[in-house]
Formats: sequence, structure tokens, C-alpha cells
Amino acid sequence: MNKLPSIKAVVAGTGAYLPEKVLSNFDLEKMLDTSDTWIRTRTGIQERRIAAKDECSSTMAAEAAKMALECANTEAQDIDLIIVATSTPDVIFPSTACFVQKEIGAGKAAAYDVSAVCSGFIYAMSIAEQYIKSGRYKNILIIGSEVNSRILDWTDRTTCILFGDGAGAAVLKGVEAERECGVLSSHIYSDGNQSHIISVPGGIGKTSVTHEAIDEKQYCIKMVGNTTFKMAVKKMVEVAKEALEFNGLSPEDIDWMVPHQANKRIIDSVAERLDFPEEKTFINIHKYGNTSGAAIPIALHEANSSGKMKAGDLVLITGLGAGLTWGAVVIRW
Ligand SMILES: CC(C)(COP(=O)(O)OP(=O)(O)OC[C@H]1O[C@@H](n2cnc3c(N)ncnc32)[C@H](O)[C@@H]1OP(=O)(O)O)[C@@H](O)C(=O)NCCC(=O)NCCS
Repeated sequence: MNKLPSIKAVVAGTGAYLPEKVLSNFDLEKMLDTSDTWIRTRTGIQERRIAAKDECSSTMAAEAAKMALECANTEAQDIDLIIVATSTPDVIFPSTACFVQKEIGAGKAAAYDVSAVCSGFIYAMSIAEQYIKSGRYKNILIIGSEVNSRILDWTDRTTCILFGDGAGAAVLKGVEAERECGVLSSHIYSDGNQSHIISVPGGIGKTSVTHEAIDEKQYCIKMVGNTTFKMAVKKMVEVAKEALEFNGLSPEDIDWMVPHQANKRIIDSVAERLDFPEEKTFINIHKYGNTSGAAIPIALHEANSSGKMKAGDLVLITGLGAGLTWGAVVIRW
């Protein structure tokens, strides 16, 4: 019996934007009681990028988006929906996605943000997958963009050494095909009971901006590092296994694993528990640190544009972020 074509959500193009300014571990040594050796051995990070004064999530997102559109050979006016995954929006409202829409000239698109922190791009991809497979939209632009440097306590060595700024984007297209291609499945989860382990506790919507909260640096990232570390390993492995099983795949079938880039030791532990080889695990944390929602799309773009990831490759994405939120996606590239 002939298989009827169905709509697949195919990644048609990728893009990324990294601010010019590099902040190395050696620069941090001059600002804090820390060392390049400690940061490198505990996290794998060597340097990170810091947004310039006139840059913010929407400006970086727009640059990454333009690159992804060009790569996908798609005009901005043909985009039906823009989703920006960010935990550092330009302002509380309008959404960062609306600023991006204006900047790139995507006049007919609906545009909104998703808030799932480091899992944000996985969430955005999962949403885009559903819209495309249902036939509702044909061209969706998904972006992860973060200006973490603006919500860091630069006197807290346990958090500020970890994060960086940047943006990554992808264009997903609906393609009628009989063969298996594009996003094969996405799996997303949350656990609000764990919201305290990594958060920005200052609640503008809850309390307004208060002098006390500013003095207590409540508008900055606070994290229980080792608990977050353990949860990241556990949940990223769990959901990666689920995604593989769902598609009848084993780790040997995967050509590239693109994990969230939070800590090289987290990535190594995830790969080890999945029995997944290091040479097929994409890592760029040494250059950018943890760029939260931007980390996965930046990694996807680098793997794609460097020619490492090729058409037909099976790609496994897995990540965890504040919320807690976590998820995985399997893509036939
Ligand atoms: C933050 C993190 C790197 C800390 O590494 P760790 O091995 O757990 O280190 P610990 O927190 O146990 O601290 C060990 C020691 O190093 C010290 N330390 C912490 N940060 C330091 C730094 N930047 N430089 C030097 N020393 C530091 C601590 O004060 C502690 O000293 P003590 O033993 O005298 O008390 C690690 O827990 C981590 O990566 N967590 C997950 C982060 C994450 O994924 N966040 C985002 C989720 S998306």
C-alpha cells in the first residue's frame, strides 16, 4: 500500500549572532576571587560574549533571524509565526518577538515569546512542530536570544562565571513528504515544585520594583548549583531516552547529540549515561558559556554551517532549564 504524503516540519535554515565583546576567564580573575583553572575544570568554559550597550535580546534575535532566513532562502514576509524563546526580554511588554517582527519586516506573522529559560528553544520547536504538522502554518521562525549579562550579579562568583549573551535561530518549513524527515518528535516537561533551585526571585509583577529587592540583588540569577547540576543530568538523560524509544532508535543510530550547553561536566555525564560517544556530541560551551535559550540554536547553527551536521543525519537535542523545564527533540536533518 502506498504511504500518503504527510506534512513534515523541516529545518530549512539556521542562523546565529554573538556579540563582539569577549570576556575571558582571565578577565574574570581580575574582577572576582576566581581562576581560569577553576572555571575551566569545573565548567569547561574559557570565555563568553557580552552584549554591547546598544544590544539586547531583540537586536541579537533579529540578526540571527536574518541569517536563518537567508540560509532557508525564505523572505521575511512569508513567515507565518515568530516565536522567541527568551528569559531576558527587552521589556515586560510588548514581546521581544514583536520587536523582531518589526525589525525584519515579517508583516503577516503572528509573534510571541515563550518563557522556558534554557529549555525555551526546545519548547519553541515543539510548538512550531505542532502548528506545521497540523497544516495551520507553513513557515515558522524560532529564535532563542538572551542577554544574561544584564541579570547577573557580577559579584557572585558561583553564577556570573557561567553565563553569556547571544542568539540563535531556525526556520521551520512545512514540507509534504512520504519519507521520514524534519522533526520526528518533541517531548517537553516542567516541574514547578523545583522553581526555587534556579530563578530570578525579584517579582516585578508581584511586588513592583522595590529598593529592598534591588539592594538584595533579587533581579539577578540565583542558583543552587549542585542541585541544578544533578537535576540537569537526570532529566536530560530521562527525556533523551524517552525520545529515542519513541522513535524506535538507540544511541548508535544518532549522528549528533546537541545538548544544552550549561556545563561541560553535565554534558559529559549525560553522554556517559546514554553511552553516547564524545566525538558525536556537539560542544561549544568553551567559547560562549551558558547562553540559556540561545545555546541550542547557536550550537545547531554552528554544527550546520560548519558542515559537521549533514542532510539526513539523525540529531538528538536535549536540555534542562529553570522552571524546572526540560525536553528533547529528534530531527532527521
Ligand atoms: C555552579 C557549578 C559550576 C559549581 O560547581 P561545583 O563543582 O558544584 O562546585 P561547588 O558549588 O560545590 O563549590 C566548590 C567550591 O568552589 C567554590 N567556588 C564556587 N564558584 C567558584 C568560582 N567561580 N571560582 C572559584 N571557586 C568557586 C565554592 O565556594 C566552593 O568552595 P568551598 O568548598 O570552600 O565551599 C556547578 O554546580 C554547576 O554547573 N551547576 C549547574 C549549573 C547549571 O547548569 N545552571 C543552569 C541550568 S540550565
